Amino acid sequence: MARIALKSIYHSYTFSQKDAEKMSIPDECVGTEGFVVEDLDLLWEDGTANALLGPSGCGKTTILNIISGLLRPTNGTVLFNDKNVTGYMPKERHVAQVFQFPVVYDTMNVYGNLEFPLENRGVSKKDIRRRIETIAEMLDLDDKLKAPIGSLTPAEKQKVSLGRGIVREDTAAILLDEPLTVIDPKEKWGLRRKLREVQKELRITMIYVTHDQHEALTFADHVTVVKEGQLVQTGSPEQLYADPNSPFIGYFIGTPGMNLFDCVLTDAGLQSGNIVIPISEAIRSKLALTHGSSFQFGIRPEFVQISAPRKEKWHPFTVTAIESLGPYKILTLNSNDVEIKSRAPEDMNVSEEDHVWVNFPEDKSRIFHKDVRLV
Ligand SMILES: Nc1ncnc2c1ncn2[C@@H]1O[C@H](COP(=O)(O)OP(=O)(O)O)[C@@H](O)[C@H]1O
Ligand SMILES: [Mg+2]
Repeated sequence: MARIALKSIYHSYTFSQKDAEKMSIPDECVGTEGFVVEDLDLLWEDGTANALLGPSGCGKTTILNIISGLLRPTNGTVLFNDKNVTGYMPKERHVAQVFQFPVVYDTMNVYGNLEFPLENRGVSKKDIRRRIETIAEMLDLDDKLKAPIGSLTPAEKQKVSLGRGIVREDTAAILLDEPLTVIDPKEKWGLRRKLREVQKELRITMIYVTHDQHEALTFADHVTVVKEGQLVQTGSPEQLYADPNSPFIGYFIGTPGMNLFDCVLTDAGLQSGNIVIPISEAIRSKLALTHGSSFQFGIRPEFVQISAPRKEKWHPFTVTAIESLGPYKILTLNSNDVEIKSRAPEDMNVSEEDHVWVNFPEDKSRIFHKDVRLV
């Protein structure tokens, strides 16, 4: 297994003059595209469960292909256990990839699919059988070994794809690119849990790519968030949730995301429309360091306090929508231009157009300036 590092990675799909001549691309297109991935420094520790999370088109697949060697970065270094593998072919890196669509041999049964990578390496028949039995049991495929691939569900096929990667004992890492895309919603949860189980049991370095924050946070111990080809934040799911370094992370992580609204610093506190949030001296001095007066206030819906009876120093809001989500409900609250969401217990007696009083506890409040978190 490997500790994987990317150092100062840049990648551009820009067409060179040579490509342009070969592919009859007009001259004005040569060199016009910017970098898809820019100055990335990332590290994945050996044997860890990781997620690479970001919106569609942010460069996740590009990064994965740079790690596996399917793509050579325009600039930068790829290290496996501190060894420079940037110029290595994919097969020299011993990385297994699981893609959106299961990659399996339709003409073979499950056993044949798992046997193939080992047979290619000259492993003895006896060792092959032992290894396949272990892996099949781990993946709950032991009673499917003789089944033709065509008879499997997409989730089972995806397990075979994964099995083909982990059946080899020299696999340095498993890279999964949105592996649940074609899986039936009912089976997604079970397959994700299975991936996690296998990761724990074999201590494989896994990098799981997804645009779905829920998938990333429930799968990984360590999450890397990328936006427009650049690293935004990396940390445990708890760190990203509690201490987002930017409004982007605050909103992207969490369901619904963090409430965010613009405000200005006045003598009375942070003001947005008719709402003035008092702030402590300690926070005021932190904000003063920026020499600015415009900030973004952030608080997660679950930390917004609400009260039907009036409360001193709390802010008046009107309930504009109520969404029931089983054990709790999400209220949309409005006060002039400020709209926020709040999580309330399912049994709270509240209706649309009710007037409520709202408080933002200081220890749960986050304040950003020019996209950077200050508090
Ligand atoms: N082969 C390619 N040629 C040109 N542009 C590409 C190619 N592959 C991806 N891109 C562009 O690079 C950006 C990142 O793509 P990708 O790495 O696939 O993102 P993600 O996996 O996060 O959706 C996108 O703007 C995409 O259009
Ligand atoms: Mg992709």
